[in-house]
Amino acid sequence: MLCRPALWGALFLGITALFAADIFQVQTLTPETRKQAAELYDQECYACHRWNRKFAGPAMQGNVERYFDNPKALFDYLKDPKPIHPDVYRPMEIKKLSDQEASLMVAWLISLAKDSLAQDRPR
Ligand code: HEC
Repeated sequence: MLCRPALWGALFLGITALFAADIFQVQTLTPETRKQAAELYDQECYACHRWNRKFAGPAMQGNVERYFDNPKALFDYLKDPKPIHPDVYRPMEIKKLSDQEASLMVAWLISLAKDSLAQDRPR
């Protein structure tokens, strides 16, 4: 009997953790946040990526399409890149992105990959 509250507490924490893991909201972008994302990409990503072709890293359009169904996994990758094609590429090395930067990048990249006419799409 005594440990019941603890059990409920644990159950509650477990359920909230599950939801936190599942519900990843791709943020809505404004012209200002799009600009921030483009600047961040310019500084941290453009050195190695081109949109439609392989460069130091694989082409960005395809990179992003792989994550359409699971934006949270893209967020996780950007926070902590794990080797994906060790036979072809070196593991990606980037500066540590904050949660805010990574989530901004996810939203912007996905919006660009879904809109081939986007004005702010990098080369
Ligand atoms: C120093 C070069 C370099 C920089 C800078 C860089 N990348 Fe990469 N990126 C790579 C390489 C190399 C790979 C392939 C890694 C692999 O296969 O393990 C890659 C792969 C990726 C992928 C594909 C992951 C997958 O699942 O296939 C994404 C998405 C990505 N980069 C996004 C970014 C973003 C966003 C930035 C900027 C914040 C960035 N990269 C900066 C080199 C770079």
